[in-house]
Amino acid sequence: MQIVPSIFAADFAHLGDDVRKVEQAGIGMIHVDIMDGHFVPNFTMGTPITESLRRFTRVKLDHHLMIEDPDTYAPIFIKAGADCISVHYEVCRNLDRTLHMIQEHGAKAGVVINPATPVMLLENVLDIVDYVLVMSVNPGYGGQQFIPNSLAKVRELVRRRAERKRGFAIEIDGGVGPENIADVARAGVDWVVAGSSVFHTPNPAETVHQMQRLAEEACSVKV
Ligand code: DX5
Ligand code: ZN
Repeated sequence: MQIVPSIFAADFAHLGDDVRKVEQAGIGMIHVDIMDGHFVPNFTMGTPITESLRRFTRVKLDHHLMIEDPDTYAPIFIKAGADCISVHYEVCRNLDRTLHMIQEHGAKAGVVINPATPVMLLENVLDIVDYVLVMSVNPGYGGQQFIPNSLAKVRELVRRRAERKRGFAIEIDGGVGPENIADVARAGVDWVVAGSSVFHTPNPAETVHQMQRLAEEACSVKV
C-alpha cells in the first residue's frame, strides 16, 4: 500500500518545497487534481503545473480529471507529463473508448466512481482499467469527512479482482488520515490519496511515515 499525497492541499506559492517534503518520505507518486468548474464547483490547475512538476520531480504524476470533457484533455495532460489519468464514470459516454485512448497515449488508465455510483456499473471495464479510484468524499474540495460506505465498495472491488486473471490497483480519495488509515488498509486499498492530512501538518514527511506505519500494523498478521 502506498500513500499518494494530493498537492491540492499544498501551498501553491511553495509548491516545489511541498513536493520535496513528501519526496523525503520516499513516496512514489503524487496526486494532481484537475477541476474545470463544471463537473465540480471548483477550479484547480492546468497543464503548466503538470509541465513544471514533470521537470521538477521523478515521482509518478497521478492525474484525477474532475472535468466534463476528459476525451479532449487527457491526451494534453499526458503530453504535459501525466503518468496515470483517471476519468469519472459519471461523465464518460464511451468509457471503454476513453480508457483505451488513454492507454494508447502511453498512460495508465483509471476510472473513478463518485460516492453515489455503485461498483457493479464497472463490471464491463474491470478487464481494461489499470486502476479504480473510489471517491470517499464528493469531489471538488479538500478536507471533507470520509464516507464510511466507501470501504464496502473497496471490499467489493477486491472480491471482483480476485475472480479475474487481470489485476488492477484500487485507489481511494478523500478524508483519509492517521485516524482511519488502518481501516482503509485492512479493506485492501493499494493507493491512498491524502491531501490535508499530509500537507496541513507541520511535518508532511513524518505524517506520511506515520500513516504507512499504521497501515502496516493494521495489515500485519498476528500469530
Ligand atoms: C477532492 C480531491 C481530493 C482531495 C482530497 O475532490 O479529489 O484528491 O485533494 O483531499 P483530502 O485528503 O483533504 O480529503
Ligand atoms: Zn483527487
